Amino acid sequence: MRNPLDLQNLALVTTPSVDLEAEADLTRCGALKDFWYVACLSAELPSGKPLARTVFGTNVVLFRDEHGKPVALRDRCLHRNARLSAGDVFDGRLGCPYHGWVYDGSGAVVEVPSLGPSQCGEVLDSQGHASAGLKVRPCDLGRLQRFDTLEQDGLVFVFMGGDASRARAEPFRVPYWGQPGWTCYFMVTRFPNGVTNLVENFMDVPHTQFVHAGWFRDTQRKRVPATVKRTGGSVLVTYQQEQDSLTGLGRLFNPRGQPLVHTDKYYVPNVTRVDYMWGESGFAINSQCTPIGPTDSLVYTAISYRLPLDLPHTLVGRALRPLVKWYTTQVIRQDVAIMGVQREGLTNGPGGGVFTGTEADLLHADIESYRQWLREGAPGEGPTEEERDIVFWI
Ligand code: FES
Repeated sequence: MRNPLDLQNLALVTTPSVDLEAEADLTRCGALKDFWYVACLSAELPSGKPLARTVFGTNVVLFRDEHGKPVALRDRCLHRNARLSAGDVFDGRLGCPYHGWVYDGSGAVVEVPSLGPSQCGEVLDSQGHASAGLKVRPCDLGRLQRFDTLEQDGLVFVFMGGDASRARAEPFRVPYWGQPGWTCYFMVTRFPNGVTNLVENFMDVPHTQFVHAGWFRDTQRKRVPATVKRTGGSVLVTYQQEQDSLTGLGRLFNPRGQPLVHTDKYYVPNVTRVDYMWGESGFAINSQCTPIGPTDSLVYTAISYRLPLDLPHTLVGRALRPLVKWYTTQVIRQDVAIMGVQREGLTNGPGGGVFTGTEADLLHADIESYRQWLREGAPGEGPTEEERDIVFWI
């Protein structure tokens, strides 16, 4: 029989399934950085105001240039390193709050107030400037690191991996965005956990009867067969549970008791999409996770829903939005709480991130295989295509 000390040692030498520190570190995350990540909602970035974000542990300042295009720069002034996000935006340019240096959308210093109207050093000669490590004019001062941006479907994306032409995929499209009959809204939530654990949570059915009991799904003591398909950077789970019943607002979408089509899909590296459809009505929950640090993430959740066709869906859909938003906020708060509980466990001493599981965790193992492969720099072809049937009980 193994004694407790042996078990402790085993935990120390076992490779973690999830290395949260490396996953959220720009210098160690491998190919995880080679994708577009949501930096903010379009509505969070009005003209004339800077916005602070932290992505992969790197502070970024966002603002709109003179054409209204989002700009993302390193949030650290070249002068004395103050955070530029505490400054001001005017005429599409960013001013530092400390000594007022001004940066344009390319990250170049375009004005130094202390140089006066000439914008040129007056007394020190060029040799005096050079020997003291100083510059004569703003254009000599260099540029801030700039990150490529892109705006679509109400979201501003940032690319942290260098030249965005290297991106491994296009930014994810919000399901049903702008489509007739569909109502879409966003929720932005800070979660106390890393991206791998969050995408697993968003794809996880067994937790719903414990974490969301009475809000989303009650204990049904039902056998749930499902197919898990890992292919091309995605993990698709199709549930054979046409008679599954949701509690709460889920009932609103299916007054006539139509069969349910429930699919969950993960897309590398950070996106999930959960669809519950009854005929033409139903809802899709799309979550895009942006790593802040090892155990902190910002999640941009797009809720898209369409009511049964015999309802005047556009008007009723809009009228119901406050209620649906309140309901989804409660459910998300429950997930925030349980992610905090998981974080407390996995950051408490060595062995955190060493996971075990059963058949119900196959999709999690597939997600981890993709993320680990990317974190290691995406060598070779990556995880092979697999399709397997599983069964679990809820
Ligand atoms: Fe930014 Fe001085 S620190 S202008």
